[in-house]
Amino acid sequence: MPKVTFSRAGITFECPPDSTVLEAAQAAGVQGLPYSCQGGTCRTCAAKGSGEMETEEMLALTPSELREGWRLPCVAFPRGDCQFEL
Ligand code: FES
Repeated sequence: MPKVTFSRAGITFECPPDSTVLEAAQAAGVQGLPYSCQGGTCRTCAAKGSGEMETEEMLALTPSELREGWRLPCVAFPRGDCQFEL
C-alpha cells in the first residue's frame, strides 16, 4: 500500500488505493488540514507534492502549476509512495 508523508508535520501514513490523500490523512487522525470542496475545484487544499499519483481530477490547477509540483490532496490517489509539503 502506498505511503504518504507530510514533511512539515513529520507524519507518514498508508493510503489505500481507493482513498484520496485527504481521506487517508483524516483516517490516520491528521488534524487541521485545509480543505473545502473535496472535489478538486476550490484549491483550498493545494500543496506541493511529489511521487506517483493520479492527477486527472486536479482541474483547479493549471498545467504550469502541475509542472511546479502543486497537487490537490482531496483528489490525489497515490500509485506509489508520495510526499507533500504539509
Ligand atoms: S478541497 Fe477543494 S480542491 Fe481540494
